[in-house]
Amino acid sequence: MDIILSPSVLSADFSCLADDVQRLEKSGIKQIHLDIMDGHFVDNITFGVGTIKSLRPHTKTVFDAHLMVTKPDNLLEGLADAGVNVVTVHKEACLHLYHTLETIKKLGMDGGVVLNPATDFKSLKYVAEDGLLKKVLIMSVEPGFGGQAYLPMSTQKIAALKKWRDDNNYDFSIQVDGGINVDNIKTVIEAGATDVVLGSAMFKNREMEKNVQMFFELLGL
Ligand code: DX5
Ligand code: ZN
Repeated sequence: MDIILSPSVLSADFSCLADDVQRLEKSGIKQIHLDIMDGHFVDNITFGVGTIKSLRPHTKTVFDAHLMVTKPDNLLEGLADAGVNVVTVHKEACLHLYHTLETIKKLGMDGGVVLNPATDFKSLKYVAEDGLLKKVLIMSVEPGFGGQAYLPMSTQKIAALKKWRDDNNYDFSIQVDGGINVDNIKTVIEAGATDVVLGSAMFKNREMEKNVQMFFELLGL
């Protein structure tokens, strides 16, 4: 399967977000990871639907929204209207996960579920069997902030998730988010991730073109 590199704009310069995304797109990036934080589910606050809607006309990249909010259902219609393509919601925030994923599908977006480091994936069995699950995002740090260190146990979790998916013939993709850099990106891909979020590593020294190129070369993309 093709590897997708998903730069997280959490590490971008918010005063020139469109420029930053265009620099990434021109360098060959096809998907942008949008971290929406509400100050409740996590301590940090980022941006919402309005910002994403303003950004949409400036790029053709896939918009991959990661919702770190306590009430994801309230945002779904707005996100669809803003041109978001993929939405991942935290298992820990969703009391009615089946309903939330159904709503995402009805709105024409791909739905996925994010798991905090301590959350197991086995309870996703029923949404996976009903074809509502297009992606599972394994958090390899506690969510909320960029620049944290990768939690080593994430590697075995990715591998176990891949085995569970393949054994059961589910068809979701595996994304990993948090602390990924040049030293561990090959490890997470070897374990089974095909979609890798890169925040601080992609924006390092604000040399996005150079960083994209370096990851492409490292991975033979
Ligand atoms: C953290 C966010 C990540 C963040 C990753 O809660 O979900 O997407 O931007 O940043 P790095 O790659 O610096 O850990
Ligand atoms: Zn994220």
